[in-house]
Amino acid sequence: MKDVMNFDAAVIAAVTGHMNDDHLDDNLLIAKAFGYPNATASTMTGLDEQAGVWRVTDAAGEHELRVDWPGAPIADRPQVRRQVVELYKAACATLGVPARDEHEPAEAAAHGHAHGEAHPHAGSSPHGHNPHAAEEAADGPKPFSRVVRESSWSDHSSSEGANFMEDIMRGVASKQDYIDLVAQHFFMYEALEEAATQLASDPAYAGLHPAALVRLGTLEVDLEHLLGANWRDEIRPVPASAAYAARIREVAAEGWLPGIIAHHYTRYLGDLSGGQIIARRVARQHGFDGAGVAFYDFASLGDLKAFKENYRDGLDALGETLDEGEQQRMIEEVRAAYAFNTAVFVDLAELKAAA
Ligand code: HEM
Repeated sequence: MKDVMNFDAAVIAAVTGHMNDDHLDDNLLIAKAFGYPNATASTMTGLDEQAGVWRVTDAAGEHELRVDWPGAPIADRPQVRRQVVELYKAACATLGVPARDEHEPAEAAAHGHAHGEAHPHAGSSPHGHNPHAAEEAADGPKPFSRVVRESSWSDHSSSEGANFMEDIMRGVASKQDYIDLVAQHFFMYEALEEAATQLASDPAYAGLHPAALVRLGTLEVDLEHLLGANWRDEIRPVPASAAYAARIREVAAEGWLPGIIAHHYTRYLGDLSGGQIIARRVARQHGFDGAGVAFYDFASLGDLKAFKENYRDGLDALGETLDEGEQQRMIEEVRAAYAFNTAVFVDLAELKAAA
C-alpha cells in the first residue's frame, strides 16, 4: 500500500477539510457503496495519487477505507476534484441514488429539496458545470459561458491555489491576513462598481448587475467592524490591487462592455461560488456573525444558483453578439482578471513576510 504522502499537506488539508465540513453526506455515500453498507459515519482522512482514504464507522467499529480513483494515478489538485466527483457518482450508481447536479447544494440533494444557498460542489471543474447538456448532446456550438469557464479554469486554479488564499481556506491565516484581504477587496470593488454602473444603465445587461449584487456597502460594514470608524485612513492598496483597479477603470473609460463583463464575471461569480466557502471558514475561525463577512452575504439576491445560471445565460447571449476575435479578447480579459487576483495574493503574502 502506498503512503498518503505524494500530495502536499496543504492540498490534503484543504480537500479533506472541505469534504468533512461540507460533504459529510457524500463521504457516507462513498463508504456505503465501497464496502461498508451499514456505515453510520465517514470522514475523509487523506488521499494520494492512487486513492482517497476515509475513516468509516459502523456497528463493528472503525475501519480505514481506501477507494482507488477511477482515473488513477492522478497528479494535481484539479484532478482530485474530478475524481471525488467520479467516486460520488459511482457511489450513487451503486446505491441507486440519483446523483445531484453539480450546482445543487449537497444538503439539498440529501434532503430531496433545493434551498437558496449556493454550495459549489467539491469536484466542480469546467467539465462539471453542464447546464446546457441538451445543446451539447445536439453537438451544437458550446455555450459561450462554458467556453469562458473552460478557457480560464487553469487561471482559476492558480488563484485558488495561491498560498495566501490556501492559508485562509485551511484556517491557518491570521485575522490580520483576512483584514488585509478585505481591504484589497475595497479597492477592487470601488473600481468595479463604478464600471458596473455602465452595465446597470444598459437594458441588455442590467440583469447582470442588480442592486443586490453591489458590494461596496458591505465592504464598508466589514471594514468598520474590523478596523473601526477610521478604517478608510488605515487601508492601502498593494501594488497589484492598484494595477487591477487601474485596468478596470481603463476598460470602463474605453466603454468596452465585454471587458467590463469579464471583470464583473471573474469577481462576482467567484464571490457567489468559492466565496461562500471562504465566508463559512472565516466566520467560524474568527467568530464573525454578519459584520466581518457581510461581503459574502448575498441573501437579498435570492436563489444564488438561479442567479448564477441566469448570469451564464446572459454570457451566452453576449457571446452570440461577439465575433470570434471579440470573444477571444474578452476571454483574455477574464484571464487577466484572474492573474490580477493571483498577484494580489502574492503581494499580500509578501506584505505578511515583511511584517
Ligand atoms: C480558495 C479559494 C477558492 C475556492 C475554494 C473556489 C472554488 C470554486 C468552485 C468550487 C467553483 C465552482 C462553482 C460552481 O460550479 O458553481 C468556483 C467557481 C468560480 N470561481 Fe472560485 N474558488 C476560489 C477562489 C476564486 C478566486 C480568487 C476567484 C477570482 C477572483 C474565483 C472565481 C471564480 C469564478 C469566476 C467562478 C465561476 C466559474 C464559472 O462557472 O464560470 N474563485 N470557485
